[in-house]
Amino acid sequence: MAAVKGPQAVHTELPILNGQNGALPAKEAVTQAVETTKSDDLQRPAFEIEEHPIDQVRPIKVGVIGAGLAGITAGILFPAKVPGVDLRIYEKNADVGGTWFENTYPGVRCDIPAHVYQSGFSPNTQWTEEFAQGAEIRSYWQGLARKYDVYKYLRLQQKIERAVWQPEKGKWLVTIQGLKDQQTPRRYEEELDVLINAIGHFNAWKLPDYEGINSYQGTLFHSSNWNHEVDLQGKRVALIGNGASGLQVLPSIQPIAQHVDHYARNRTWVADSFGTTGVRRLEPNLFSEEQLESFKDPDTYLRYRKSVEEGYFSRFGAVFKNTPENQELREKWTKLMLSRIRKDSTLADKIIPDFPPNCRRPTPGPGYLEALGQENVSYIQTPIQRFTPTGIVTTDGVERPVDIVICATGANVDHAPPFSIIANNVDLKEAWTHDGLYGFPYNYLGMATPGFPNLLWIGGPHSTGQGGSVPNCLENQITYIAKLLRKLRAQGIKSLAPSKAATDDFVEYCDTFYPRTVWTGNDDSTPGQKNCRSWYNGGRPGGRIHGLFPGSASHLNYLRRDPRWEDWEYTYTNPSGNRFAYFGNGWTQRELEKGADLTPHLNRPDTIDLRTYLEGWWDA
Ligand SMILES: Cc1cc2nc3c(=O)[nH]c(=O)nc-3n(C[C@H](O)[C@H](O)[C@H](O)COP(=O)(O)OP(=O)(O)OC[C@H]3O[C@@H](n4cnc5c(N)ncnc54)[C@H](O)[C@@H]3O)c2cc1C
Ligand SMILES: NC(=O)c1ccc[n+]([C@@H]2O[C@H](COP(=O)([O-])OP(=O)(O)OC[C@H]3O[C@@H](n4cnc5c(N)ncnc54)[C@H](OP(=O)(O)O)[C@@H]3O)[C@@H](O)[C@H]2O)c1
Repeated sequence: MAAVKGPQAVHTELPILNGQNGALPAKEAVTQAVETTKSDDLQRPAFEIEEHPIDQVRPIKVGVIGAGLAGITAGILFPAKVPGVDLRIYEKNADVGGTWFENTYPGVRCDIPAHVYQSGFSPNTQWTEEFAQGAEIRSYWQGLARKYDVYKYLRLQQKIERAVWQPEKGKWLVTIQGLKDQQTPRRYEEELDVLINAIGHFNAWKLPDYEGINSYQGTLFHSSNWNHEVDLQGKRVALIGNGASGLQVLPSIQPIAQHVDHYARNRTWVADSFGTTGVRRLEPNLFSEEQLESFKDPDTYLRYRKSVEEGYFSRFGAVFKNTPENQELREKWTKLMLSRIRKDSTLADKIIPDFPPNCRRPTPGPGYLEALGQENVSYIQTPIQRFTPTGIVTTDGVERPVDIVICATGANVDHAPPFSIIANNVDLKEAWTHDGLYGFPYNYLGMATPGFPNLLWIGGPHSTGQGGSVPNCLENQITYIAKLLRKLRAQGIKSLAPSKAATDDFVEYCDTFYPRTVWTGNDDSTPGQKNCRSWYNGGRPGGRIHGLFPGSASHLNYLRRDPRWEDWEYTYTNPSGNRFAYFGNGWTQRELEKGADLTPHLNRPDTIDLRTYLEGWWDA
């Protein structure tokens, strides 16, 4: 059993009181027989019937932090699936879009087809190119937010700074910084019944902390915070990092800059196209007018979508170690990479990674390898040692002066939240870091953490299965959370949190499953399995995997269809703690409303699907 150190999650389920004043001898006898009543519980008030119909839900305030794809989708699905919920979505930026609002670097675009990287319920038939550019993606998601009225739940330019759980109240106290007036930012507090983190994996972008970096006198910025004031024309530029961002930036700046020093301390796999064509070109794959016209026909478009998207649900075999599928990728990508640098044979020995394909997220990098071979690009694999006021020194003592440094150095990869989230004297901001109490993002199914009641995650650690698409994964996760919210408000539940036992079982499953995969391809003694470091493993070769779920995208969708209620612990709003207090006074609301439909179960027989017959939460 992979029991995790740290405080025991408080077991909050309350035993049955069963008429502690002795009014019901038969029940009392049962209670004594099962010995569930402790002296503590006897001090709780006696249970009294709550005077309300069973289906009168308690009002809850739900706060979502972040309005990227996750927050926007939550803003669409929660009001539909949890009608009447008091929802507020806090976003530190001036508009929605998250990744696609902030990343405006030249060349930013999705590396999977836009027809896959979109909502399942409101797709765009008219994407202009197969791999849409950042601006088109941003405008699609902003359009979706407008179409579904998400803006009415939005609190823009409001940054969450801290959240503290108040167990007596069963509410989170959040501290918010209003950023509308930059000169005098306003700080205030709000109480929320449920707090949902949708803050993204890559939003807390990170600059390196090399010695001397603060005394560097040229211009320095992160690719996620592009400085559009700076003209690269004729300049000496340093580009640090060869993740997916660095791979998009290099071919965009190489034709403009006088010279680019590209610092890539580790090698990376460059994949074949993730789309319908083989090798990705730098030029856009524009859709023809005929194609765009044909997509207006719903059946044709559905067929097209399914044909493209099925590829994303069928690549799981290649994540397992030493499988023919993974070996095939190694051969295919090696050949492809070498063919793409044909102008510069000196690169051949320097680009093929030691670790297996898929150990870190691959990307097709259109134009990257071609740019690497250009005369005005230096590919520098020696690690950086320090900065000087005018340039960068590598560990071999070579100093290279530059006018501009672009850091495509990614984000915090430990997945610890960048602000304090405190409950039961533990702060996740510290507990989840490598040196913290847990040492990794200790969580239940990428959804919640023991000891942190009413705190949920969308798109957090372990949130995506391998393959599939991010929007589809988020829709499934949000639907799962909607079920938790409906239960919480409808069944008199004050708080819910996953049990420590269930979470430890999940950790044990992860620890046993991941070694089968190339994500743990970090055995330094085996050729081809070395030095793999990425946001999947917290940036540490051999580190615990938490970037991906231990299963395929389809596997994750399957298991998220129904929450395992037995893995959760609950407290109740009724002072007696009786779990059935929500039964109320025996009535349903509709019986008390004049003219209400008392027979919602009756429908035209030809509209009945027996698989879902009498299973709708909305028509009971
Ligand atoms: C440059 C780039 C390109 C990418 N391309 C692809 C791709 O091609 N395909 C793919 O599948 N994935 C891609 N990704 C991954 C991408 O991040 C996800 O697909 C998706 O956009 C994540 O959405 P999200 O809502 O979970 O997070 P984000 O888009 O990161 O949104 C998080 C939001 O939370 C807000 N926030 C954070 N902290 C706070 C706070 N304290 N208070 C208030 N608000 C806060 C942020 O401002 C942000 O708006 C890319 C990532 C990057 C960085
Ligand atoms: N559509 C797309 O094509 C696209 C574009 C951008 C991002 N994305 C998504 O976003 C994720 C993150 O991509 P990303 O490129 O922003 O980040 P990333 O994959 O984490 O890559 C960061 C890069 O910076 C390097 N780095 C970090 N700290 C460094 C330091 N101190 N000194 C030198 N190098 C340093 C890393 O090197 P090491 O590997 O040696 O640590 C790595 O090469 C991707 O995996 C992908 O999911 C997709």
